[in-house]
Amino acid sequence: MSTAAKMTGNRTGMQTSPELAEELIEGATNATPSSQGDAQDIADYRGEYIAEGFPIGSLPTVPVSEEGEADEDELGMAVFLDKLSERLAYERTGTRLYEALLNKCETLGETTPGPTLEEIEHIGREEMEHFLLLNETIAELGGDPTLQSPSADVAGVTSLGIMQVLTDPRSSMAHCLQAMLTAELTDNDGWQLLIKLAENLGYNELTTQFETALEHEEEHLQNVRTWLSECVLDSAEA
Ligand SMILES: [Fe+2]
Ligand SMILES: [Fe+2]
Repeated sequence: MSTAAKMTGNRTGMQTSPELAEELIEGATNATPSSQGDAQDIADYRGEYIAEGFPIGSLPTVPVSEEGEADEDELGMAVFLDKLSERLAYERTGTRLYEALLNKCETLGETTPGPTLEEIEHIGREEMEHFLLLNETIAELGGDPTLQSPSADVAGVTSLGIMQVLTDPRSSMAHCLQAMLTAELTDNDGWQLLIKLAENLGYNELTTQFETALEHEEEHLQNVRTWLSECVLDSAEA
């Protein structure tokens, strides 16, 4: 019998054994906590750290006027560069996510319903194009594409779970598509926000390029949604 076949019969639920469940609850109720305090104490500790006001990283220094105030245009550009850097980080991860999805699909084999290898490669190529567009855009605006901005840092942490699902050898195609749906929803909103920022700063050519990227993302989202729902519905009928 294969390992996968042997690993059936999920016993994590307490209802597996109502008698032992009662004992477990009794034990937990009578047990002495290993440390003092409760959830409020944890919140209080967190509150102290929050009040210290340390930011997640920083942006390159924004030039200030002689009166000691940052120029409005410079502030607008700083926010734009921060969000461009965030999108750059996310699109870079996006290419890796689709590489992992390709690896999964190659190993498990193409299934119907589900994406073909060619379809996964196609989206992966577009994520790479987006990454390159952002790289070039940041450099042309005088920024540093290798800089990890605060929002890029947050984006990296946020997408960690998605990558874990994709690279987990046990995850199914449906699990991976569920995780990719989170990534593609974020992709769509990310480009929409960049378009608004580019418009506000008067970068018309960039706005057009970003709108093309958004069109790609809308297609990615639609495809992932369709593959996911078909995979799940199909498994429910099998
Ligand atoms: Fe993308
Ligand atoms: Fe995408």
